[in-house]
Amino acid sequence: MFDEGQLYSPVTTGEDGTVEVHLADNHPGLHDPAYRARRSHIAAAAINAPAGTVPVIDYTEDEHRIWRLCQEQLAPKHEKYAHSEFLAAKHRLRLPTDHVPQLDQVSARLRPLTGWGYRAAPGLVPLREFYADLGARTFNSTQYLRHGSEPLYTPEPDIIHEVIGHGNQLASARFARLTEAAGRASLRLETEDAMKFVADVFWFSMEFGVIKEHGEVKAYGAGILSSFGEMDEFGHMEHRGLDLADMGTLAYDITEYQPVLFCAESLDELDDVVGAFFDTVDDDLTECLRARAAHR
Ligand code: TRP
Ligand code: FE
Repeated sequence: MFDEGQLYSPVTTGEDGTVEVHLADNHPGLHDPAYRARRSHIAAAAINAPAGTVPVIDYTEDEHRIWRLCQEQLAPKHEKYAHSEFLAAKHRLRLPTDHVPQLDQVSARLRPLTGWGYRAAPGLVPLREFYADLGARTFNSTQYLRHGSEPLYTPEPDIIHEVIGHGNQLASARFARLTEAAGRASLRLETEDAMKFVADVFWFSMEFGVIKEHGEVKAYGAGILSSFGEMDEFGHMEHRGLDLADMGTLAYDITEYQPVLFCAESLDELDDVVGAFFDTVDDDLTECLRARAAHR
């Protein structure tokens, strides 16, 4: 199940104000001192930014190169494997392909389309805060880039995931509404069990969701669409029909390509099942869990 502790590298602030990012033992940047220093520098910028402002990051040529490479590799795969709703939104948003954009620039393009904007985060944002902000069409995003040695997939969300994955997705009015609905649901929930259930349904929809279109399985989940490695694989994974009880309880490993994906029959079915769930879920999950019993 979702373990928020592992998703992002922990960030600490020492007594003297020194910010440090702690990479896991298997992180591709672990033995790269320049990368580690860079991660701490970028995290410190978010921590030290005046409230309500997004720091401007002085991206290096190396970082622009990683962004460019991912945009280049992802573009043909999006055309082939992304759902048309995502593609149309991507073509409206028109993110830069040759340089890493500042988050404020992404917000400036996104706001006129769907009202969404970005806020800078040094690393993990507590689940409740993250979802409350989604309810106000605000997306918390990290600003660092994945390590250059493994661009095709990273187990740790970076600005490529948050902007190329979620930003393009949130430029669609339909995906914007679904994401906001998940955020608004969190405000109604008191128990952590219900909150986690919603976060897991979100995981199997807005992060790793797939959908049928013209007889093919297409991706709309931001986690698939930001990884050119995972884009090659999702078509070969196990695809199950939308089942809220299954989505809310299935265990998953956040560090690997997802072996089980939930496939909507159509955008309308996604709204009818997942959208309606976000709109109505409360702390009493019995009905959601009973739906599964009926299914079997
Ligand atoms: N694997 C994604 C990528 O390479 C990023 C990512 C890491 C992610 N952890 C995630 C996406 C969790 C969604 C959910 O772009
Ligand atoms: Fe994400």
